[in-house]
Amino acid sequence: MEKIIMKHDIHKMYQESVQCVEAEIDFIEVTYKEIRGNEARYLREDFSGTGQTAGEWVDRNAKNKAWAVDLDDDVLAWGQSHIVPHLKNKQGLNYKKADVRNSGIKNMDIVLAMNFSYFLFMDRNTMIDYFVSVKDSLEDTGIFFLDAFGGYEAAKELKEERECEGFTYIWDQASFNPINSEMQCYIHFITDDGIDFHKAFSYYWRLWTLPELQEMLHKAGFSTIDVYWEGTDDKSGEGDGVFKASKIGTADAGWICYLVALP
Ligand SMILES: C[S@@+](CC[C@H](N)C(=O)[O-])C[C@H]1O[C@@H](n2cnc3c(N)ncnc32)[C@H](O)[C@@H]1O
Repeated sequence: MEKIIMKHDIHKMYQESVQCVEAEIDFIEVTYKEIRGNEARYLREDFSGTGQTAGEWVDRNAKNKAWAVDLDDDVLAWGQSHIVPHLKNKQGLNYKKADVRNSGIKNMDIVLAMNFSYFLFMDRNTMIDYFVSVKDSLEDTGIFFLDAFGGYEAAKELKEERECEGFTYIWDQASFNPINSEMQCYIHFITDDGIDFHKAFSYYWRLWTLPELQEMLHKAGFSTIDVYWEGTDDKSGEGDGVFKASKIGTADAGWICYLVALP
């Protein structure tokens, strides 16, 4: 059994099905430079999981440094044994076990809260406290990047399957409560040789809206907040992967976007 689990590592399957850290860091590098006119060096990845994004950051430039912050020993250990060995700039990446609200890692050019992880803060005060702690961790010229998702299908109970190499990825919005906007989601993987990693990852989230998030960021003291909305590919009608600061979005069934907040 141990061999099977090693062969089908849920963190590897997560990386292959969920994350595209290259595109994410492309967006962050370009946007930081557009706004600040120079290059960022110090990045903190909150809710880092295995720290793959932080690893991509340090490998972009030998001068870059990153801190991957998570509460879970297992994911941090996995990152140290599976991500660090493949990095050119190994000494640039630091892992820290901490609550993102008081990790003590400050003077950052960039703080990231990606893959919607901060949706686990369920009430306004807790979210604002987190945002205040991020603002206090940034240089005056720093930038806070967050992603968000929504659309009318985000508030539905549904399952979506996607074929990946060697396994099927299943996104499961198992329950949604319209009274408090809390939702239970899971990621399941079924390997081509029939092993079912049911509830490999579980997320209990509040589905926050973009107006709420912008209001809370302002309340926390961020001075400028822009929503970067994805363009549409003319041929396919799907998202084109290019995110631009926008005042008007499209009323799609499902969308993801970035919030870019300046202290
Ligand atoms: C959706 S996963 C994020 C994974 C990561 N962003 C990635 O893409 O690999 C959420 C992570 O947040 C961590 N987490 C939850 N609450 C936290 C907190 N208050 N402080 C630090 N990490 C936390 C969990 O341990 C988990 O690894």
